[in-house]
Amino acid sequence: MTDNEHEIEQPDERVPKRVIGTPAPGTSMLGTAEVKAETDQDVPGVTLQDPVKARKAERIVALCFAITFLASIAFIISYVYFQVGSPEATGTSNLALGTSLTLAILGLAVGIVIWVRQIMPKYTLVQERHAMVSDEADREVVGDTFLRGANESGFVRHKLLRRTLLLAAAPLGLVPLVLLRDLDNSPMPGAKFNEQLRHTVWGEKTKEGKPLKLIVEGTGQPIRAADFNSPGGILSVVPEGYQHDLTALAKATVILIKFRPEEIKSGVRQNWTHDGIVAYSKICTHVGCPAALYEQNTHHILCPCHQSTFDAADGAKVIFGPAARPLPQLPITVDAEGFLIAQGDFDVPVGPSYWERGDAEAAVREKGGQA
Ligand code: FES
Repeated sequence: MTDNEHEIEQPDERVPKRVIGTPAPGTSMLGTAEVKAETDQDVPGVTLQDPVKARKAERIVALCFAITFLASIAFIISYVYFQVGSPEATGTSNLALGTSLTLAILGLAVGIVIWVRQIMPKYTLVQERHAMVSDEADREVVGDTFLRGANESGFVRHKLLRRTLLLAAAPLGLVPLVLLRDLDNSPMPGAKFNEQLRHTVWGEKTKEGKPLKLIVEGTGQPIRAADFNSPGGILSVVPEGYQHDLTALAKATVILIKFRPEEIKSGVRQNWTHDGIVAYSKICTHVGCPAALYEQNTHHILCPCHQSTFDAADGAKVIFGPAARPLPQLPITVDAEGFLIAQGDFDVPVGPSYWERGDAEAAVREKGGQA
């Protein structure tokens, strides 16, 4: 391809000719641009690097790439070796992964930058541009408008307003710093926090020491198992005595589904059901939306937020979507009068997966710090 084939026809001679791609040495990328000749070999517009410095730079670049190689291997080893679970283990894993990945990317970036700046030849390019300054008339209009606005606002005249405005703006500038600091104090699953996340009120008893009844959400009516008898039926229920406790309900709301016995699969804990009635947490295990859309034919529970889908007939296992674990099953039975009651609390934390990590930490603590 000749140099002329790079040129794009432009009608106006005053407009510099554009060139596609890197020009051959000795030519300018802009036809009419002025190019300085300042290389060893006297090639106009091209400065070759000092060979001694270039060789030194080459060794540095090779070192950077070697660091990238080693850090990448360290990243893969860290991923396999440091398993997550407790907050401490997760922190160690994140530190190892983050450090090795940072080194890998940094080595690559630094190597490429040195390669380009100290090994490749430099081009001196000049491109003519039109003046960016506005014409005199426009500048006058803008200046007049600004001054008129400043006078009308009375910013100079009203000292009290000016000073209180500056006073108000000063602490506002510190707000981002406070918010940044707050990032460091965000709650993490810890010893105290974990206890709150791990338990729901379903593990508690009434004043008389009896297990909590399952109450229909909204009406507050207890549910007699014999009355909840049509297969495919679903109810949203809450714990007796906590109908109006929004903090408790945020974790304790449950859906109740009635199955034919033959529909129930192995994922369901049978001794936690009563006569084909199964109870699951209504709090989606993705990020905690209420998962209460139920499809009778397929037994699918759907969370409307991000479409996580759970198989209610098979222990509410995840069959689609971003949720990472099943909806926890609540152990239920009936009391002497036939009302549905909870046998106890969920045996795993309900809701989003960070609660689950809190649970992992509790398990570690209960074992005396042994992972
Ligand atoms: S909260 Fe349920 S799918 Fe995201």
